[in-house]
Amino acid sequence: MDQLIDIKMGKIGITGVNFPAEDMRKMTKYSLADKMDENETTTMEYHIIPIGIRDQQKVIAFLRRFFFRDEPLNHSIQLIPEGENSTCIPLEEYSTSSIDENLSLMAVSSTGTIVGVLLNGKTQAPEHGEPEYITNCESPKFKKTLKLLHYVDQQANLINRYPNKNGIDVRIISVDNNWRGRGIAAALVEKTIVIARELKYDYIRADCTSHFTAKLCKRLGFDSIYELHYADYVDENGKPVFLPSLPHTAITTYVRKL
Ligand SMILES: CC(C)(COP(=O)(O)OP(=O)(O)OC[C@H]1O[C@@H](n2cnc3c(N)ncnc32)[C@H](O)[C@@H]1OP(=O)(O)O)[C@@H](O)C(=O)NCCC(=O)NCCS
Repeated sequence: MDQLIDIKMGKIGITGVNFPAEDMRKMTKYSLADKMDENETTTMEYHIIPIGIRDQQKVIAFLRRFFFRDEPLNHSIQLIPEGENSTCIPLEEYSTSSIDENLSLMAVSSTGTIVGVLLNGKTQAPEHGEPEYITNCESPKFKKTLKLLHYVDQQANLINRYPNKNGIDVRIISVDNNWRGRGIAAALVEKTIVIARELKYDYIRADCTSHFTAKLCKRLGFDSIYELHYADYVDENGKPVFLPSLPHTAITTYVRKL
């Protein structure tokens, strides 16, 4: 709750990123309570705040409920089995690996519950061969995803496309399925743009595995620089490695120059 009080007063500085009071007011959204189930007592108000190291476990618990199951690639390969406590440790490690860079954000309801997460990290040049973290990945299913992301990274070739520039990668976006379609993902990306500008980054990049995030990036002024249709990414037998359900037909790299 301390965090929420601070936000309303516009004094966020939890992870070293300063959020001007003006911005925080803009980031507060309201929805029509009269559209909700009559038993639902929560208002749909939320705030966007930075994610710090101390939030790591809460963020992982949130992602295990949503992203680990419903992100199009994870869903298509049934990354984790049904069950409240099931997880994928390598994806947990991937998810938390950039939190200490203090560029990640979460949307929190008025009751303090996380309703959306955006994990960001600094853009790094992809290794030429297969990186060790992929070779040693202990989840065969998640290894497939890491391989795809590495392939896309090499094809998009950002480091050569924008030499000597610094970028932020949007690594994970996830919104609670009861709160979707209300612009939370958009608000998280917009806030990242504000922060990236303040910190003098040159661009933001997102590899969109979902049709919805691709749509969102396009609307927020990102340019598509690389697209790979899932049907064209095949294994040694010529079969697509991922076949997410419609409308998710491609992974697309979007870049927003700042
Ligand atoms: C993708 C996701 C993060 C979007 O979150 P959200 O808060 O609902 O997104 P927004 O409300 O900001 O909407 C983003 C865009 O997608 C569209 N959209 C979102 N959900 C939609 C749906 N179910 N059907 C049609 N359009 C949808 C919105 O209309 C909006 O389009 P616009 O920018 O052209 O207006 C959320 O659906 C999610 O967590 N999905 C599972 C995890 C995932 O796929 N992560 C992204 C991987 S790249």
